Amino acid sequence: MTRRRTVLVTGGTSGIGRAVAARFAAEGAEVFITGRHSDTVERSAKELGVRGVVCDATRPEQVAAVSDRLGAELGTGLDVLVNAAGGLPETAAGSAELPPLEALLTQWQTSLEQNLLSAVLTTASVREKLNRGGSVISIGSIGAERRGGSYGAAKAALAAWSAALSADLGALGVTCNVISAGYVAGTGFFQGQMTDERHQSLVQETHTKRAGTPADIAETAWFLASPGAAHITGQTIHVNGGAFTTR
Ligand SMILES: NC(=O)c1ccc[n+]([C@@H]2O[C@H](COP(=O)([O-])OP(=O)(O)OC[C@H]3O[C@@H](n4cnc5c(N)ncnc54)[C@H](OP(=O)(O)O)[C@@H]3O)[C@@H](O)[C@H]2O)c1
Repeated sequence: MTRRRTVLVTGGTSGIGRAVAARFAAEGAEVFITGRHSDTVERSAKELGVRGVVCDATRPEQVAAVSDRLGAELGTGLDVLVNAAGGLPETAAGSAELPPLEALLTQWQTSLEQNLLSAVLTTASVREKLNRGGSVISIGSIGAERRGGSYGAAKAALAAWSAALSADLGALGVTCNVISAGYVAGTGFFQGQMTDERHQSLVQETHTKRAGTPADIAETAWFLASPGAAHITGQTIHVNGGAFTTR
């Protein structure tokens, strides 16, 4: 009998992370999802038929607790880690009253914590549990290539870190890649700020003339964690309908 794969998806309560969790759950994998809010974690876990753990991926003590729980509940180690938690920096309460440089610092620190350090901490916490043949997949962004600001800089750093991680984990038989997503509609990413005009302009930038879907990213993650992708590591895989090309 084939062993069920074990999968941890940070930010698995919404959008891309949720679709990734659903994709692995559909193959019968044992999936854990995380998010910062107990109500959405519990609801999503129930709907997806997976296990939910409340965890802010930027908080070391919470990340360590998730790793401990995986250790206690999984007799088999971890096969796939998908670092999907992240997003645009939310405006911190009271930041309008801060001196400009303090507000700028807060915005950059938040971006780096949300989009880079969340993946760094989570990956470090489960490093010893990763099984040979496993995969670490981090969700990057087209914003790393252009117009990204503090968010794009954080995602560019995520790709640089992931490539170095690949060299570190390669000898253990673990692949490490970034899926750099273009515009993906139907997620909480734009925090209700997406307009019809902006949507149309982002769609027009693609060769496929459509927005990306969470399933586009989930299918790529599933492939990168499959035996057929065992020699793909240290890479940034762009999934954006041609909105950014590597040539
Ligand atoms: N949508 C796009 O166009 C797009 C494009 C390129 C890249 N991306 C990237 O794709 C990833 C997923 O975004 P999405 O579009 O699916 O947005 P989303 O629907 O807002 O999902 C974000 C998920 O991450 C969780 N999360 C956020 N911060 C977290 C933290 N510190 N610790 C744990 N969980 C956290 C959220 O839950 P809680 O808020 O409850 O914690 C939610 O489950 C992000 O890394 C984003 O940067 C998105």
